[in-house]
Amino acid sequence: MSTTLTWLGHSAWRLQTAGTTLLIDPFFTGNPAAATTVDEVAADFIVITHGHGDHIGDAAAIARRTGALVISNFEIIEWLAPQGVQRGHAMNIGGAHSFPFGDLKLTIAHHSSMLPDGSSGGNPCGLLIRLSDGQKIYHAGDTGLFYDMKLIGEAGIDLAILPIGDNFTMGPDDAIRAVQLIGPRRVVPTHFNTWSLIAQDAAAWAARVRSETVAEPVVLAPGASLSL
Ligand code: NI
Ligand code: MN
Repeated sequence: MSTTLTWLGHSAWRLQTAGTTLLIDPFFTGNPAAATTVDEVAADFIVITHGHGDHIGDAAAIARRTGALVISNFEIIEWLAPQGVQRGHAMNIGGAHSFPFGDLKLTIAHHSSMLPDGSSGGNPCGLLIRLSDGQKIYHAGDTGLFYDMKLIGEAGIDLAILPIGDNFTMGPDDAIRAVQLIGPRRVVPTHFNTWSLIAQDAAAWAARVRSETVAEPVVLAPGASLSL
């Protein structure tokens, strides 16, 4: 089974696996790093980590056009329903469910989750995805460093997607600590360079990953892909 993971800019990722297309945090309109657009992107599933505009982004518009199943926490699925998002699957932290793309479990993330109109977006989440071939992907969402990343790592993570932008999330130093706690086989940075406030030198961070952890760093440009 071939799986392709593509960075669509900021915290948005596309996972193509098992004949399905999954979008994570599809924020393209107003995203200076967007590698696709709300009108052209394909989706069978959309997963949203939390309610902030740079994550929920274009989810409703893409879901209305494509009919994709939207997966997120209970509050976000409830908020999307009156916006014409007819297919929603509500979950919550610690819960797992099997989907055609694999098994998804929501993990904790230390952050906040207010929706763009001020509604409560519930608790922010990270994502643990087990593909049908057994490979495991951990997308941390927006979060600070937390020691339970060690527990998440005990699942045996093949690829970790970690924020390094600082200011709103972990910065480069804490993301190195996160890699040490999680122990993934490979790690890719996300949530950086979208705006100057979260500008980071990803190549320098990757060099630190090589020297300070056992993981292999992979730095992608928006629009670039990785085979799993
Ligand atoms: Ni956020
Ligand atoms: Mn964010």
